[in-house]
Amino acid sequence: QDRHDARVVVIGTGYVGLTTGACLASLGHRVVCADADSGKVERLSRGQVDILEPGLPELVADGLATGRLVFTGDTVSAVREAEVVFLCLPTPMGLGGAADLAAVEAVAGQVRHELPDGCVVANKSTVPVGTSGRVAALLGRPDVAVVSNPEFLREGRAVHDFLHPDRIVVGGAPEAVERVAALYGTLGAPLVRTDAASAELAKYAANFFLAMKLSFANNLATLCESFGADIADVTAAIGQDPRIGSAFLQPGPGWGGSCLPKDTHALLSVCEAAGIDFPLLRATIDTNVAHQERLVERVVADLVPAGGSPAGARLALFGLTFKAGTSDLRDSPALAVARALRDLGIELVAYDPALSATRPDLTDLLTLADDPLSAADGAAACLILTEWPEFRDLDWEAVAARMDGRTVHDFRNLLDPDRLERAGLVRQSIGRPY
Ligand code: UGA
Repeated sequence: QDRHDARVVVIGTGYVGLTTGACLASLGHRVVCADADSGKVERLSRGQVDILEPGLPELVADGLATGRLVFTGDTVSAVREAEVVFLCLPTPMGLGGAADLAAVEAVAGQVRHELPDGCVVANKSTVPVGTSGRVAALLGRPDVAVVSNPEFLREGRAVHDFLHPDRIVVGGAPEAVERVAALYGTLGAPLVRTDAASAELAKYAANFFLAMKLSFANNLATLCESFGADIADVTAAIGQDPRIGSAFLQPGPGWGGSCLPKDTHALLSVCEAAGIDFPLLRATIDTNVAHQERLVERVVADLVPAGGSPAGARLALFGLTFKAGTSDLRDSPALAVARALRDLGIELVAYDPALSATRPDLTDLLTLADDPLSAADGAAACLILTEWPEFRDLDWEAVAARMDGRTVHDFRNLLDPDRLERAGLVRQSIGRPY
């Protein structure tokens, strides 16, 4: 049975937690979002959303205005009235690549005596198989069911993905599963009811498969280059087969972000602990590293065609975030490429439309320019590392006039080759003959 007015507490207000809270409030539930960061709680209570996420500030403002969404720093008091408590906590890469469950475990310890009788704890954090059982053991509350409800939203499309999910997965004891599923009732997405282990594994399996598709596409691009084939046509052709699908086959400077690298490493560590060999997983990760090394070698070969050191050369980097539409730099492939180039003594000046503020964390790596033309000043070559659409429409004649060299390494296959040619520039794409 659908529920529209449940009392929900969301613990953690990152991308997943804040989106979950604001979206559930928009569906009519009464939501309290709790976070240990009091500054963030204060900002959110004023409607200030720190992350770049279309539609989220509006949903937060609506929730605050209707009173269906409130923020608190007092997690322990918040859960006392809850019917369902969502854990949306960070599970960063820990020792040996394993997921670090410290935040999940700490919160379980804090709330265990406060949870009301019969409430349900739903875990949305990406966690290794068995974590629901571990949380249940830490809570030590036979009357409180723990279910796994993994989240599949993408950064930059979080609100859209939450409100239009491909599927909703809930795993655990059947009665608790139904109570959590009922919260989403109005969204009309296919519901996968399962056990907790299957739900937890489904999340890792999804991100692993997506990463595998990308490593495949990036390797295929290399193959295309050596045969003069066009990766765009090859992926368009294979993507028509519904068993393959056309999404997630766009080559790039490697895959990154806050989830795919962390989750593939965590799954690898789970496999190793279980003594299970999963060569595809290892190859997926290694291919990403090798692909980036290959791109760096390509840039260097273009800088010093006769060999020798590229030290002292200057490059312009366009885009640093791990993909367009986000201000997130976590595990960004652009930064991995930048680090490799910096280690060769190359000077880097970068422009990213999402990063206007000074970034002390980047000063050792590169100089951040306020606009693309300043970044291009005196550059021997230009690298497109994030697929920001505005790069397509840059005044490329003006960019060319500021550059010393002619090459634009378009690592997102974003730019129009004719447009660059008219500007007197030479475009190097990935896996395309032009
Ligand atoms: C990813 C998954 O797509 C979500 O389904 C999942 O819920 C999320 O992780 C998570 O676990 O929380 P996200 O991290 O937002 O979402 O990033 P993606 O949009 O998947 O992009 C990952 C990387 O792949 C980026 O570096 C992106 O540029 C790259 N990519 C993506 C490509 O190089 N080519 C493509 O065709 C697609």
